[in-house]
Amino acid sequence: MGQVVTIDGPAASGKSSVSRDLARRLGWRWVSTGAFYRGLAYVARQMNVDLDDARRLGELAHSKEWEVLLDPERTSVLFRGQDVTQHIFAEDVGGIASKISHYPEVREALLGAQRACAEGPDGLVAEGRDCGTVVFPGAPAKIYLTASSESRAARRAAEEGADPNSIIEAQKVRDQQDSTRKNAPLSVPKEALVLDTSTLNLDQVVDQVEAFARRQLKL
Ligand code: DC
Repeated sequence: MGQVVTIDGPAASGKSSVSRDLARRLGWRWVSTGAFYRGLAYVARQMNVDLDDARRLGELAHSKEWEVLLDPERTSVLFRGQDVTQHIFAEDVGGIASKISHYPEVREALLGAQRACAEGPDGLVAEGRDCGTVVFPGAPAKIYLTASSESRAARRAAEEGADPNSIIEAQKVRDQQDSTRKNAPLSVPKEALVLDTSTLNLDQVVDQVEAFARRQLKL
């Protein structure tokens, strides 16, 4: 297993952009673990699976018909050979992902596939909610990004061309769900670098994160 840097934080805190750029700078692979939950959420909805049926969702998550592809630009999710990635980043799919991510059956089913992303010669930058606490607890460099709810909503609204006021409410619900759940709640890993990104631009955040990662990893 190669070295791992983890970046966790709430919705739209900048995890994806920061971790993607960090991976590029280090010449490492990158995975967005949210894509696993989002892919499952989208496919479950398409298949009319009851979103309260944890056992059925766990079975679906365990299916051998999933494929997750890591490339420097995005984490792609395929089910039965169909690439569903373009559908999974909408805020409503994020809401379903947050709901179904509570079920231990779902988390346990996805954990192995997430850990497998670290196999291989290069290092891995992994972002999500529990990458530093549960998926890669032994990672030598852990980062936790945070930002005000206003700046997070503005960021997501700009990405989606949506109204920030409607996004702020949806994110509030999601943050509450993600940080109060019993299984692997969103929390700050011990020894993590905690960075508030509200008033920083992307390069400023990546500079600080890269310096920290290089120090921790002795690169
Ligand atoms: O990071 P994201 O917005 O793509 O994640 C979507 C949802 O997936 C998030 O609200 C909770 C869940 N998730 C999780 O429980 N654990 C992770 N490591 C990543 C995402």
